[in-house]
Amino acid sequence: MTAVGAGLVSCKDLFTNDTSITVSNASVADGTSSSLKDAARRVKKFYGSAISERDIEQDKAYANLISRECSVATTEGAFKWVVIEPSPGQFNFAPADKSINFCAANNIKLRGHTLVWHMARPDWLAYPPKLSDVERHFTAILGRYRNNKTLYSWDIVNEVVADSDKEAEDQNGLRKGVKIEYVRDVFQIAAAIDNTKEFVINDFGCEDAGWKQDKYLNLVKYLKKNDVKLDAVGLQAHMWFSKNYTWNATAFRNFLKQLKGVGVKPIITELDVIIDTPLPNTLAELDTMVADGYKRFLDVCFTEGIDTIITWGLSDKYSWLRHPDYMPKKLAGYKNFIRPLPYDDKLQPKLARKAILESFN
Ligand code: G3I
Repeated sequence: MTAVGAGLVSCKDLFTNDTSITVSNASVADGTSSSLKDAARRVKKFYGSAISERDIEQDKAYANLISRECSVATTEGAFKWVVIEPSPGQFNFAPADKSINFCAANNIKLRGHTLVWHMARPDWLAYPPKLSDVERHFTAILGRYRNNKTLYSWDIVNEVVADSDKEAEDQNGLRKGVKIEYVRDVFQIAAAIDNTKEFVINDFGCEDAGWKQDKYLNLVKYLKKNDVKLDAVGLQAHMWFSKNYTWNATAFRNFLKQLKGVGVKPIITELDVIIDTPLPNTLAELDTMVADGYKRFLDVCFTEGIDTIITWGLSDKYSWLRHPDYMPKKLAGYKNFIRPLPYDDKLQPKLARKAILESFN
């Protein structure tokens, strides 16, 4: 075993000796023994997961699974303002460093998520943060990791588009208090500190046609027109599928084409699949529906040339959708029907994993 960073253990070494992951045994039979990252690599793509340094430290089998399956990862919490700058000017880099060390030891490239967000914010910080706060925050963080080879991408601004017209600041549709020029300024502050990494804007709820998708596209076009360094557009893709309604794949495909048309690369940053009510009778049916959701979504992504697919976790065990604060109200009491990720809560592969693998293939 190799000691890595602050007490972490290299999962490359652990994996070799660990028999607790049965993916290879279970999957050899149905021809899915390739890791997701290898399947992705064969078609010049990347597959990965959100990672929490705490889960990785406390659950070695899970860390091994991340190591086996992922060529890319995103920090689930380590770079959120409340974690990394809990008091003004006082920085806690330990969680971020643990994530980076784990990824470096396991040959995973890492996305830093997220610098400006209305959530996970310390009480003293206004939203939107004053530009002087942004400048101090970015100088410390982007400066520290400027030469880091593992961390290659930053979610500079997260979820800045409002949820509806009513909640928007103005006709640009951004959150209350956020002018479109503010987003430009935030990106420019970042680029002045480090313009070598991939800069991403990230948002949810833009996988279907509608008001939010229009506003997101408008924002991206504005940033590109104003020469902002914006390399990729993150589509979180917390997807809902149901027996009762359908997903408009054509609208999503058109949206991806439009993004590419303005010179930005779409990436999938937080994919998971939840099944809406009415729930099927059995978990087997539910897993089939989840897998079908993955397949339908990824088929469009790959037709449009998307090369980075990141799920928001690898196992249902750690899904945010099972956290009491975030569990959808209509599914309260049906926790065992919340199975949005490729592995179940016992770290066994599900049909969703097979669907992702087949989509890469
Ligand atoms: O670390 C504390 C722990 O010390 C404390 O005992 C515990 C009590 O509940 O809370 C722990 O912090 C939690 C943290 O996750 C780490 O587990 C917070 O309460 C909890 O609110 C936080 O939730 C995260 C949420 O963002 C807010 O930051 C979720 O894990 C994370 O999956 C979720 O991720 C977001 C993306 O950043 C943006 N897109 C949506 C996505 C899902 O909400």
